[in-house]
Amino acid sequence: MKVITTIEALTAEILAAKKSEKTIGLVPTMGYLHEGHLTLAQAAREENDVVVMSIFVNPTQFGPSEDFESYPRDLQRDTALAESVGVDIVFAPSVEEMYLHDGGIRICAGKQASILCGASRPGHFDGVLQVVAKLFHLTQPIRAYFGQKDAQQVAIIATMVRDYNFPLEMRVVPIVREEDGLAKSSRNVYLSEVDRQQAPAINEALTLARDSFLENGDAAEAIEKASVHIATRTNGKIDYIELLAYPDLAPVTDETKQVLLAAAVYIGKTRLIDNIIFNVK
Ligand code: PAJ
Repeated sequence: MKVITTIEALTAEILAAKKSEKTIGLVPTMGYLHEGHLTLAQAAREENDVVVMSIFVNPTQFGPSEDFESYPRDLQRDTALAESVGVDIVFAPSVEEMYLHDGGIRICAGKQASILCGASRPGHFDGVLQVVAKLFHLTQPIRAYFGQKDAQQVAIIATMVRDYNFPLEMRVVPIVREEDGLAKSSRNVYLSEVDRQQAPAINEALTLARDSFLENGDAAEAIEKASVHIATRTNGKIDYIELLAYPDLAPVTDETKQVLLAAAVYIGKTRLIDNIIFNVK
């Protein structure tokens, strides 16, 4: 496995792979890898000749009061884990390398970013699209792998891929969870012992809400049940719990076939997100 930190070296590898007609699969990450990330890499390994994993904590998707500085980083550990699942190239550039030029041109995520995480993290998805577009150009993948954990991110990137004709297919991998249901996340390391005990209540609440909605189709009641569960089981503060049609992220109607139930909750100081996508028809 090669660990590459410059765009020049990456480009040389990609050109060589393209010349020998190898297919490239891309797994974009911010590192501090866990089983969720590794599942994406394994899926990429199965389908492509060359697997590229990017490890880059992207400053442009963090707000000024968010955790860019303190975001967990451990490149040595990450490269060992990436190698263990068969990644061929880890691309881990510095911020300077990635953003050497800035002519001020921006990608705007549009109306899909005005709700859920986009509402509480203004500019976040613009930053995600900026780095993902760059990574797509740099690695020229035929397939790119994303987790359902970040369902809104998937929906917004899929729109960019469609509307701007990126010649690649997106693959979406189900959420990988701890045994008690907590969605795996690099940010779980921030949780204190008490926080960690309370955190599974988020997934429990979403499951309760799903069952309630499937039983009687009442979105408000489902969300209320989830909110009560979180309020009674945690000291957490709910950022949002929402039930929307998926993947368009519009209000649920009689025509809706798939529903996204998504939540963001502060457990202690840590903002955790989780979701369930399910069929209603
Ligand atoms: P990061 O949070 O590191 O996540 C990288 C990828 O792993 C994302 O596609 C995310 O959805 C997926 N992932 C995270 N936890 C998961 C879990 N428990 N189960 C399944 N997949 C999981 O998402 C980002 O980085 C960044 O926004 C990025 C796309 C890399 C752009 O900077």
